[in-house]
Amino acid sequence: MFIRTEKLSYTYMAGSSLAVEALRDLDIGIPRGSFTVLLGPSGSGKSTLLQHFNGLLRPTGGRIFIEGRPLNYDRRQLRELRRRIGLVFQEPERQFFSESLYEEIAFAPRNFGLPASLVEERVERALQQVGLEGEGLRERSPFQLSAGQQRLAAIAAVLAMQPGALMLDEPTAGLDQSAQQRLFTLLQQLNLSGQTIIVVTHRLDQIVSLSDHLIVLNRGTLLVEGKPDNIFSQPELLHRYGLYLPPVMELMKELIAAGLPFPPALYSLEEARQEIVAWRNRGFKP
Ligand SMILES: Nc1ncnc2c1ncn2[C@@H]1O[C@H](COP(=O)(O)OP(=O)(O)OP(=O)(O)O)[C@@H](O)[C@H]1O
Ligand SMILES: [Mg+2]
Repeated sequence: MFIRTEKLSYTYMAGSSLAVEALRDLDIGIPRGSFTVLLGPSGSGKSTLLQHFNGLLRPTGGRIFIEGRPLNYDRRQLRELRRRIGLVFQEPERQFFSESLYEEIAFAPRNFGLPASLVEERVERALQQVGLEGEGLRERSPFQLSAGQQRLAAIAAVLAMQPGALMLDEPTAGLDQSAQQRLFTLLQQLNLSGQTIIVVTHRLDQIVSLSDHLIVLNRGTLLVEGKPDNIFSQPELLHRYGLYLPPVMELMKELIAAGLPFPPALYSLEEARQEIVAWRNRGFKP
């Protein structure tokens, strides 16, 4: 396991009259190299959990292990942790503070003490990875980019640290279809090259089709963890907690129930289209 939690609990403003229990007794694991999706309704504790994985929040109960070693929260360990496990916040554009795209992305590698030449290299590579290497963009203010470009810029800022794991909190929120698609492709490529990816979403959207490990939270507790296919074969369980399959999956399930010969787990419109075309090419035979 890359990251493992043991009875992890977290209460905001613990001990005060405003205390809010956000996580309770969580035992979960993030396999190394996995594409993990963290799913759950609004307020279920997803963002709180992510912030524990890179040490921004410290458990009020239980423990966290990174590659088998418990986090002890000393300064050196925290610094190393934040370099290795990058977090792209929910609405990351809100946190831009630099005058240019270049400076925004150079901030973290510079902060980690890399020499100027290496910083330059890192920034170039990160811009290329997200497809923002085009002439002139790097000198532009990050605030003057489009919403989709801003999201990609925020991801590049984290990629420039070359973290072993990349965590993204609701990365597709507010992006149009083509920007979403571009982001999916990027995440898939990063995962294929060995990076552990953890994505938070409150909807069962297309991102789930990329995942090989799914964790579903509800009110700060673990609802279910495992292979996406196993979890999606129990839609009633998900419905009970206000989570619905993407419309295309709900439809395909209905068609399968009516006796049509499709495989049980189809997540995207494209996969469904291919199955239907193949079925037609077989002369509508099983
Ligand atoms: N800074 C904070 N102070 C106090 N309570 C908080 C704070 N941040 C979150 N909470 C509470 O902790 C619980 C979990 O919140 P969290 O933001 O982790 O949920 P989430 O699953 O990320 O939701 P969403 O899908 O809306 O982003 C909620 O009850 C929330 O109200
Ligand atoms: Mg959140």
